[in-house]
Amino acid sequence: MVVIEAENNSSSLGTKLLVNYVFTDQVSSLSLSDITSDFDPIIREIVESKEFTAKEGSMSVIHNTAGSSIKRVLLLGMGDRKNLESEKTRNLTGKVVNKSKELATDEFVIVPFKDIDNEQISAIVEGIKLSDYSFSNYKKDEDRTDLNQVRILTGNDLGAIQNIIKHSSVLSDAVIFTRDISNLPPNDCSPKVLANLSEKLSSDPKIKVRVIDKEEMESYGFGGILAVGRGSSSSPKLIVIEYSGSTKNDKPIVVVGKAVTFDTGGISIKPSEKMEEMKYDKCGGCNVIGIMKAISDLDFKTNVIGIIPAVENMPSGDSYRPGDIIRMYNNKTVEVLNTDAEGRIILGDALAFAVKTFAPQAIIDMATLTGAAIVALGSNVAALVGNSRDLVTKILEYSNQTGEKIWELPLFDEYKEQLKSSNADIKNIGGRGGGAITAAAFLSYFVGDTPWVHLDIAGTAWNQDGTKEKTYNPKGATGFGIRTIVKFIASHNAS
Ligand code: BES
Ligand code: MN
Ligand code: ZN
Repeated sequence: MVVIEAENNSSSLGTKLLVNYVFTDQVSSLSLSDITSDFDPIIREIVESKEFTAKEGSMSVIHNTAGSSIKRVLLLGMGDRKNLESEKTRNLTGKVVNKSKELATDEFVIVPFKDIDNEQISAIVEGIKLSDYSFSNYKKDEDRTDLNQVRILTGNDLGAIQNIIKHSSVLSDAVIFTRDISNLPPNDCSPKVLANLSEKLSSDPKIKVRVIDKEEMESYGFGGILAVGRGSSSSPKLIVIEYSGSTKNDKPIVVVGKAVTFDTGGISIKPSEKMEEMKYDKCGGCNVIGIMKAISDLDFKTNVIGIIPAVENMPSGDSYRPGDIIRMYNNKTVEVLNTDAEGRIILGDALAFAVKTFAPQAIIDMATLTGAAIVALGSNVAALVGNSRDLVTKILEYSNQTGEKIWELPLFDEYKEQLKSSNADIKNIGGRGGGAITAAAFLSYFVGDTPWVHLDIAGTAWNQDGTKEKTYNPKGATGFGIRTIVKFIASHNAS
């Protein structure tokens, strides 16, 4: 894994690749004379000939043949300084990492722009770590150059910058850890495997992990999780990760994540095309494991609880069926009209359990819940539905900082009305339209008055083909949502 360090400007610098972040207004006076004089004549030439104008996303590579200790310079165009935002830096840094792989260099040095602030340094670190990721558990690409080291040159304040780099590295590593779990194939990632992975977090004395198995769930009345899990020979687990970073009477933040380790649709079976992608139906739950790892590694001073209902949704002689009426943890009865609307059923139990057991100050859930969220917002924006203006506003605010785009959908009473059933309290699907909202409306029956936000990450949880949209999200699971939620939790840090 790549190590990122801050380093003071030095005249004896050696590297295979020196990367210079350049705004358009700097281009006419561009010079590396602080570091080396070897490249300035060529830089002047390509600037004067307009080969390099610092247009956003443009890159020029200059090779040195004169035996300098700096082998190459990469000029990265940052565009107009006025339009600078951290997401741009994250994306362009990802582009640099991809270029470094083309150039087969295992290290590079960054010369950042003048007056760089903490948020921009974090964006550079995240851009490096997240774009360098690839899922290699089952196949190693021998031609791919591993990035080992990146140094960021800083004039002063080395210690302070090193701290920011450390924080962002730890956070990015938690995202990478999550991607590795989310990308696991369904034959190697049963609910039990997720439980075992979660239990490893208890090496931190502040973390206690409790895994509620099928028998225990039966005695407590988790009718929803048990119904959905019944068709699979891998039995369901309810994973509860408790992080005690503050005093006992400090109300916790609860984070809940859907972990359907494979979603066939059950008896309401899905078409076979692209069904393999339903291994990613566990991404919400995996995100929760990653969030708990991040707050543990960052030693947060907040009480946080992660809850992961983990099941496999399979058709079998013992599966739950359309028409079944199940009794949920909060005693509400649910008529099942489609066994493929399973995520809301397991989350309903988990949310009701969270409210009753922990009296949380806030609940956030993450789930690959509906195809309708993708229809509404596409594959780069997650849907948000919530019952608390204050909490919604905060999550949207942190989402702006992390580049994890989130858009709110409304929770009018009429959506909840649609779910009333003549045979039971509610049914598990609504009418034809507004599918992402009716799914959220279903969840609202299980949170009561507790401030709550639901994130539908169906479109954003993974990349089918490594989209060009974000250079730092390679093919496979993205870990979308982790950075935003960790920022939100960080804002509650007592210290
Ligand atoms: N896991 C799916 C949602 C999904 C679909 C996520 C495609 C990502 C990509 C969920 O369990 C599901 O099947 N939802 C149904 C609900 C419907 C039956 C009301 C859907 O969206 O089609
Ligand atoms: Mn489904
Ligand atoms: Zn599902």
